[in-house]
Order: sequence, then structure tokens, then C-alpha cells
Amino acid sequence: MYGLINKAVHDLVTSKFGEAKWAEICQKAGVSDPNFITMVKYPDDVTYRLVGAASELLNVPAADILEAFGEHWTVYSATAGFGHLLDFAGDNLVDFLSNLDSMHTRVALTFPELDPPSFRVTDVTADSLRLHYYSKRPGLTPVAMGMVKGLGKRFKTPLKIRLDRGRADGHDHDEFIVTYGEAARA
Ligand code: HEM
Repeated sequence: MYGLINKAVHDLVTSKFGEAKWAEICQKAGVSDPNFITMVKYPDDVTYRLVGAASELLNVPAADILEAFGEHWTVYSATAGFGHLLDFAGDNLVDFLSNLDSMHTRVALTFPELDPPSFRVTDVTADSLRLHYYSKRPGLTPVAMGMVKGLGKRFKTPLKIRLDRGRADGHDHDEFIVTYGEAARA
């Protein structure tokens, strides 16, 4: 994945645990240079190794780190120079989720080798929708869930998300039920 992603993991870890912990994590992950370059494409394995090492050293389940990363992402990507792309994608949750693929298409103008996931929205009601998430990569379900939670914060909308069915059950993609607004407070 592009260095931008690893930089966001760096930012999340150092904001909570400091640079020394990050250096330890990189060492454990076998990553020689702890500073990633935004526009360089690194093997996905580097990101997975960083998350695995962080999980062991911080004694936090990998899924929790992935979800925290996802939630951090909406704030980080806005401050890392991509706020205009977030702004373009919609001014409410439903529009935004429906526009994720076109947003990543715009991202690909900056990152030509982008290999993004794909999202589709169905079954929209006044307080819920079904979000379909397709990815070539394994194990990133908690990232997607964390990102959607981050979007709830961006739009100041109470939000709940649960995995209805997914790749872990042999399905070809994950399907989340997202509940928002007053219904999510219940
Ligand atoms: C302007 C903001 C955004 C930028 C610049 C961005 C950029 C990226 C980049 C660079 C990657 C790594 C893929 C690669 O390097 O080949 C990625 C992956 C991903 N993005 Fe985005 N993204 C943005 C917003 C979002 C949002 C709001 C979501 C919300 C659901 C999202 C969902 C994901 C997921 C789940 C992945 C993990 C890869 C996978 O599932 O296969 N992104 N994105």
C-alpha cells in the first residue's frame, strides 16, 4: 500500500505512545526505515507486519488496532492534504458512502498504482443502509468498519455498524448494516 497508509499508522501510534514505541514496532516488524514516503508504493506485507508488531508490543488485538486505524483515517487523510476529496464526496453520510468509489477514482489521479477497495450501498431507509465492501486484501474488515465510524463523527451523526455476513462465512464480500441518526442511539 502507498506510504500514506503507513504514515497514518505511524501517526496513530505516536499520538498515543510516542516515537520510541514506534521505533520498537518498526524493529519488531523488520522495517528498517521508520519514515515512510507518501507517494511510494510499499508491499502490503509491510503494513500487515506493522499491525502485527504493534498488536504484540502494545498487547492489543490486531482487529482493535485496525479499527482504531480506520477511525483515525478520516481525520488523518483530511489533515494530510486530502480534505478537498473528502469534501467532494458528499455532505451527508448516505451520499458519501454512495460516492466512495468515485472518491477513490479521484485519489487514483494522485496515486496511479492505487488498488482501492470498492463499496456499494443498497437498502437505504430513513435510518439504515446496507454497505457492501469488496477488497482483494484479506483481514481488513475492521479497517472498513472503523472508517465508517469515523465518517459518523465527520457528519456528527450517531452511527452503529455491524457485519451482517462476510468473507469469513465464505461470502465473496462483506456486508454491513449501518444504522444512523436517532435509531443508532437506541
Ligand atoms: C480522501 C481520503 C482518502 C484517501 C486519500 C484514500 C486513499 C487510500 C489509499 C492510498 C489506500 C491504499 C491502497 C493502495 O495503496 O493501493 C486506500 C485503501 C483503503 N481505503 Fe481509501 N482513501 C480515502 C478515503 C477512504 C474512506 C473515507 C474510506 C471509507 C470507507 C476508505 C476505504 C478504504 C479501505 C477499506 C482501504 C483498505 C484497502 C482494501 O480494503 O483493500 N478510504 N485508500
